Amino acid sequence: MLTGKLTRLRALEPTDAESLARWLDDPVVSHWMVNDYPMSLAQVVKRCEERPRNTYGNLVLCIESLREKRALGVIALIGAEPESGWAEMSIYIGEPDFRSGGYGTDALRVVCRYGFDQMRLHGIWLVVVSENAGARRVYEKVGFVEEGRQRQRFYRDGKWHDLVMMSLLADELID
Ligand SMILES: CC(C)(COP(=O)(O)OP(=O)(O)OC[C@H]1O[C@@H](n2cnc3c(N)ncnc32)[C@H](O)[C@@H]1OP(=O)(O)O)[C@@H](O)C(=O)NCCC(=O)NCCS
Repeated sequence: MLTGKLTRLRALEPTDAESLARWLDDPVVSHWMVNDYPMSLAQVVKRCEERPRNTYGNLVLCIESLREKRALGVIALIGAEPESGWAEMSIYIGEPDFRSGGYGTDALRVVCRYGFDQMRLHGIWLVVVSENAGARRVYEKVGFVEEGRQRQRFYRDGKWHDLVMMSLLADELID
């Protein structure tokens, strides 16, 4: 159910803590993402151990390569409510060797399909920094469309950047 052509999505394990700490410390991952203040490995380990189980409203999954069974990154559907039928998606590929290899697009398709088919969501939304061209390309490939902008909401590299709001309806997923 949570398997695509290149990736499988699974629950995060406490043994993923070292990878998570390394990924969160990578400037490529953090550059266009809203992130926490730096965390020690011990803090990441603790967070992994204490992570609550996945639920309808808080689904956080590890992206694993199907072939090598290697942990590559994280994808999440957060804030789903049966009343609204909507959830927010976020993603990153933490392993540098696996970026730009189609893994992000594949994992995104898998989580969207799961959201629409199993969770019966009506739509999935996300926020991306306007200049994050690679991520926007991935979202557009899967069918997300821009629905508006929040002007100058994200500060990086000494200047303010717009945030682009994008969404995908259940019948718009491009497989
Ligand atoms: C965004 C991210 C999840 C995409 O995953 P990925 O596995 O690297 O992406 P894919 O290989 O599936 O697809 C990348 C696509 O973007 C395109 N792309 C990459 N850089 C680009 C750029 N600067 N401008 C335009 N397109 C670009 C690639 O050509 C490819 O499209 P194509 O298949 O049509 O050729 C990943 O790069 C990542 O984790 N980035 C850092 C964290 C981040 O920005 N997360 C998103 C926050 S909203």
